[in-house]
Amino acid sequence: MPSITLTYLKNLKQRGEKITMLTCYDATFAHELSTAGVEMLLIGDTLGMILQGHDSTLPVRLEDMVYHTTCVKRGNNGGFIIADLSFMTCSSPEQALHNSAQLMQAGAQMVKIEGGEWLCDTVHQLTRNGIPVCAHIGLTPQSVNVFGGFKVQGRDSKQAEALIETAKKFEQAGAVMVLVEAVPVSLGKALSEAVSIPVIGIGPGTDGQVLVLHDMLGLSITGKAPKFVKNFMRGEENIQGAVKSYIAAVKGGSFPALEQCYSE
Ligand code: KIV
Ligand code: NA
Repeated sequence: MPSITLTYLKNLKQRGEKITMLTCYDATFAHELSTAGVEMLLIGDTLGMILQGHDSTLPVRLEDMVYHTTCVKRGNNGGFIIADLSFMTCSSPEQALHNSAQLMQAGAQMVKIEGGEWLCDTVHQLTRNGIPVCAHIGLTPQSVNVFGGFKVQGRDSKQAEALIETAKKFEQAGAVMVLVEAVPVSLGKALSEAVSIPVIGIGPGTDGQVLVLHDMLGLSITGKAPKFVKNFMRGEENIQGAVKSYIAAVKGGSFPALEQCYSE
């Protein structure tokens, strides 16, 4: 498969073709997912829960992110690699630059940063230094203790407006992608229309979709899957089949269905 670039991803948005992203933490899955045609592989700090067994993403260290990024890079077959800046690795522009450099040198092609408008200066600095940035807005799990739990974001119109403003400011600061977590369908759609950069979320209105790999393969420690998850292993014989079925469902618009989305 030819390597996916940012230009290619932007063209998908322009053409109205849905973009596929899955989390990925190791070489074998990187090979499986990229070969199946998943466009973006995210080394998410969800690895804190999925691989390390923690109950949040807060314990994940930069060196964990770097290690898993090198693993994914080795197995990747042309997918676009994004790595999360984990908890407290980007509390100043200088720190973000230093830590993003490590992720990029490990194989990332973009970093993802969680938060709001106060990060615009950081986004600008990273971009100036050759590091593309995805801004993660809405529910940002690194701030779970500030939110007081994992809650749907942007349900009232004031909050929704504020999130749209945030996305626009990030685009102006140079961000090349937005990832929005846990918002109602209409807000995902409004965000995608408000900016020209791709918006990845979970909802029929966004330009692309993301799921945690283990969730979509039906694997879970707790045994209960969140609302937005669909088990794509059902009816499939192997992982390659499940991943291809995910791609087809996203591209064809059958996933996510309303049952996987947050109500207004
Ligand atoms: O860490 C992660 O896996 C993520 C996705 C859930 C978007 O940030
Ligand atoms: Na994350």
